[in-house]
Amino acid sequence: MSLVELAAEPARDTTAHRANQTSWSRDAVIYQIYVRSFADSDGDGVGDLAGITSRLDYLASLGVDAIWLTPFYRSPMADGGYDVADYRDIDPALGTLRDFDAMLAQAHARGLRVIIDVVPNHASSAHRWFAEALAAGPGSPQRQRFHFRTGGETPPNNWQSIFRGSAWTRLPDGDWYLHLFAPEQPDLNWEHPDVRAEFAEVLRFWLDRGVDGIRIDVAHGLVKKEGLPDWTPDPSLGMSDHQDDAPYWAQPGVHPIYRDWHQVLAEFGPDRVLIGEAWVEPLSKLAEWVRPDEMQQTFNFTFLETPWDAAALHKVVDDSLAAFGAVRAPSTWVLSNHDVIRHATRLALTPPPPQGEGLGPTSQLYPDDLVGQRRARAASAFMLALPGSAYLYQGEELGLPEVIDLPDSARQDPTFFRTGGKNYGRDGARVPIPWDVASPSAGFGPTGASWLPQPHTWPGYARDAQLGIPGSTLEFYREALAARRTHHLARNELVWQPSPDPAALVFRSGAVTVIANTGATPVALPAGRVVLASGAVGADRLPGDTTAWLVD
Ligand code: NOJ
Repeated sequence: MSLVELAAEPARDTTAHRANQTSWSRDAVIYQIYVRSFADSDGDGVGDLAGITSRLDYLASLGVDAIWLTPFYRSPMADGGYDVADYRDIDPALGTLRDFDAMLAQAHARGLRVIIDVVPNHASSAHRWFAEALAAGPGSPQRQRFHFRTGGETPPNNWQSIFRGSAWTRLPDGDWYLHLFAPEQPDLNWEHPDVRAEFAEVLRFWLDRGVDGIRIDVAHGLVKKEGLPDWTPDPSLGMSDHQDDAPYWAQPGVHPIYRDWHQVLAEFGPDRVLIGEAWVEPLSKLAEWVRPDEMQQTFNFTFLETPWDAAALHKVVDDSLAAFGAVRAPSTWVLSNHDVIRHATRLALTPPPPQGEGLGPTSQLYPDDLVGQRRARAASAFMLALPGSAYLYQGEELGLPEVIDLPDSARQDPTFFRTGGKNYGRDGARVPIPWDVASPSAGFGPTGASWLPQPHTWPGYARDAQLGIPGSTLEFYREALAARRTHHLARNELVWQPSPDPAALVFRSGAVTVIANTGATPVALPAGRVVLASGAVGADRLPGDTTAWLVD
């Protein structure tokens, strides 16, 4: 189906669809909180909901519109909480439902919207349904809520887990069950009516409490191709998330689910939003997730994976605006999250590791960390000038790099264990963030405990070491967010301008000219008064790895 046909598909509820065109989320800056690593209120070394509440003033003064919280549900934490044992309760290490309600009320009181993470592709092996399935045994109806297959000696098909190794685990009773991620994350069977009914109720549970949006984990994975056929990935494409013909990604059957969810959200008025985590390419296919009667937004990982290169950035911006525009959805933009190498490190890696491969003991690092810092700020200034909605990941406003040299004994990501230590996995992007230069654990919590060790450089990045300091990364982000709002950059049309150099990109957005120099040599600065610069700017020259915004 072409994009034009997609856009023209009949809409089922026109009121809800019209609201999508004016939703608050179309130009929002959404700040991602990895809950375990944001702020610890009780000193156990694990961030929690009360910790978030205590830092809401900081987030409001940073100038973001919304926060997105990674899963806080009851969980054995085999995958950092993306293994949910109870979708209606908070993990005791992270707080209580009362803490959640208090956090939500306090966020709303400051004008911050709150987005939560729902994990529908898989549950935890500690979920009641999986326990019932184990107890009921082979062939039982309880097993039909998951993907169980009766066993031979080898797995039912050749699918591989995203965390490496087989995607099947065998039980002592001979049955195999499917887990696209860790064995502690059995995939749910979305053909089963119980699964569909249960998640509609889970959405209502949280929407009723007042959340403004739902981020849907692995939104492209819920439906598997009939018969679960064998499939061999293209080895050149790295992580199987990127394999467009995989029999478990982006199957057509996922879309009716999101149309139903769209209706569930509409029960709560026009303002609630669905956000898809769908690693789908090309962008024109990803745009199917944000047709008028499905989700409001989907992450743009194609942008995240684009190198710091003028031609590549020009193309991804054009492709994104065209693809999402064709279905009348905003594009989103993102540079970092809890699953990828922080962009202050990633943009300085030569060559970048293939997506999903991560860093490991044999990775080659670019020798100059300062290059990473410069590029990260320049890339963020470029991103925040683009039309649409932008996502920030906690700590990027402090300039945090990836922590590479964690002791192996501290690592927790299943990727590390399932690759036999060849891939460090994602812990390096999840180290608890620094707040105060002089406090234990750099102010993360009251006792100095931290579930992943903080490097000795961490206090240097602390919020209070940067607040009010001209030229600091934190002040740069505050200025960028304020100027983005003042000049309506997220709502303006982007118009490319001639560039003074092939390594530079220039565009107009309303009265603002944006120039990004991805090269190493200075280029001519366009006319105008500089209102934001990611680094020092000469009178008429823009240094390499720098972005500036100018007004007439
Ligand atoms: C995507 C999440 O962002 C990631 O952290 C998690 O491991 C997988 N989905 C599985 O839930």
